[in-house]
Amino acid sequence: MASSSSYTIVLLMLPLLLLASSLIPAYAGNFYQDFDTTFGDGRVRILNNGELLTLSLDKASGSGFKSKNEYLFGNIDMQLKLVPGNSAGTVTAYYLTSQGPTWDEIDFEFLGNLSGDPYILHTNVFTQGKGNREQQFYLWFDPTADFHTYSILWNPQQIIFSVDGTPIRKFKNMEANGVAYPKNQPMRIYSSLWNADDWATPGGLVKTDWSQAPFTASYRNFNANACVWSSGTSSCDSKAQSTNNGWLTQELDSTGEERLRWVQKNYMIYDYCSDSKRFPQGFPPECNNTQRN
Ligand SMILES: *[C@@H]1O[C@H](CO)[C@@H](O)[C@H](O)[C@H]1NC(C)=O
Ligand SMILES: *[C@@H]1O[C@H](CO)[C@@H](O)[C@H](O)[C@H]1NC(C)=O
Repeated sequence: MASSSSYTIVLLMLPLLLLASSLIPAYAGNFYQDFDTTFGDGRVRILNNGELLTLSLDKASGSGFKSKNEYLFGNIDMQLKLVPGNSAGTVTAYYLTSQGPTWDEIDFEFLGNLSGDPYILHTNVFTQGKGNREQQFYLWFDPTADFHTYSILWNPQQIIFSVDGTPIRKFKNMEANGVAYPKNQPMRIYSSLWNADDWATPGGLVKTDWSQAPFTASYRNFNANACVWSSGTSSCDSKAQSTNNGWLTQELDSTGEERLRWVQKNYMIYDYCSDSKRFPQGFPPECNNTQRN
């Protein structure tokens, strides 16, 4: 008797449970649900019920994927484990970009290297189709030995690139100084693994060693706390989501600023804002230090 009535209660509750779970935002990423292959066919593999994705590169082709959703602002994490061993000539790109000739783009690019030599983490920000804002870093760990978290916080005030929670780069909204800022064009997440041995090694001199192919990079724990853009409306406009949107106004606190300075002092190997040869007529306005920090 007792067991049959509790059985009835469970049956009655089932639709409620299903309804409740459908209201929880799908933050825990699943590669089947959230991404599509862009090129490389079988070189994009989704494993472990959607928890793991691998890209591979061989002599015939690289591979890539993109998010099904478009986002207009977000706090987006992905864990990557990069091509190990002799990865010189390979580039793993992980970025956000919009469409069209005046696109916006926020880039992480990982330039491979000979065994034991450091990867370069190359970053850039495009606004209205204009980039030329490179900053490059070495990492304080071997990015091929394990997964590490690479994050983009993109809100109306600034873009912050982070690695394992440590901010490495900040691009502030400086529209007041005439610098375009990405805030009107929704972006998709893209990633690709490709051969760039014509530029991604010192002077293009080291060539990809195809005897090591296929080269493989792995992805897991995608998490987008983001405003999904669909048919001209943002999911963040609905009240239901607004409680989770602290990141929309988030800035670096004093600890964050300190860690950013630590990375920039110890690990930054190139900053376009210090490359005076490149800008003989003066630096772009966003390089003005009294305002960029
Ligand atoms: C590769 O290693 C060399 C030697 O340490 C270093 O100078 C270079 O910046 C590294 N990265 C790339 C992409 O060449
Ligand atoms: C940088 O910004 C400060 C404060 O707004 C301004 O006074 C200064 O002229 C700017 N410098 C350059 C080189 O634009």
